[in-house]
Amino acid sequence: MKVLVIGANGKVGKHIVQKLMDSSHTPVAMVRDPDQVPHFEELGAQTVLGDLEKGFEEAYYGVEAVIFAAGSGPQTGADKTLLIDQEGAIKAVDHAKHFGVQRFVMLSTVGADTPEKGPDGFRHYLYAKHRADEYLKQSGINYTIVRPGSLTNEPGTGKVKLEEHLSEHGEIPREDVAETLAHLLSEPGAENKSFDLISGTKPLDDVLAF
Ligand SMILES: NC(=O)c1ccc[n+]([C@@H]2O[C@H](COP(=O)([O-])OP(=O)(O)OC[C@H]3O[C@@H](n4cnc5c(N)ncnc54)[C@H](OP(=O)(O)O)[C@@H]3O)[C@@H](O)[C@H]2O)c1
Repeated sequence: MKVLVIGANGKVGKHIVQKLMDSSHTPVAMVRDPDQVPHFEELGAQTVLGDLEKGFEEAYYGVEAVIFAAGSGPQTGADKTLLIDQEGAIKAVDHAKHFGVQRFVMLSTVGADTPEKGPDGFRHYLYAKHRADEYLKQSGINYTIVRPGSLTNEPGTGKVKLEEHLSEHGEIPREDVAETLAHLLSEPGAENKSFDLISGTKPLDDVLAF
């Protein structure tokens, strides 16, 4: 499938583009700064310019699936959390619907299913992710939502724990998150489902045998 990666220049996004390049899928890396293009050109990946705060529907031409991995990050205020993590994601779902996209994989976060339980100072972020996730669920698009634990920059191990609800907290390398998201794109058992994700002991292929 031709897969639009929104947030492609991010730390997870770059891994996602690489994993898709190594798969049968064809990534289209959406970036917001022309200076970010050469990195993807060197990989041989197609790029498209788009900013979630502006118009980005042109990015969707010919796209069959979307992986949303963008986020405003912890350095910005609550206003950007609303604009990017919530409203940007909602616009991305609307465009997907408009362009008849078959599949939408959302990189969410641990706790987005129960934002009311989040700690002070973090709850607004969990609510933003929650609202985006719920909007996707109601959209009618074939979705998968993944809520990883704390992200690390360690190399991937390929071993994960992926369940609809995990009672434990944990970490996971960004590379393993990317690998999981790329695999879930074409996993029928993951369609219209949401998962928590942390590092585990089982190889991804075993975990994905739903
Ligand atoms: N940190 C954690 O422990 C954790 C845990 C669970 C889930 N998550 C989720 O995982 C996401 C990805 O993590 P990460 O480490 O890859 O984050 P990251 O490196 O900050 O990547 C976020 C990407 O979003 C892009 N972006 C921001 N605003 C945009 C806009 N207006 N238009 C288009 N793109 C925009 C950024 O673009 P630029 O490169 O141009 O800045 C960046 O490439 C986070 O945003 C968070 O929601 C994080």
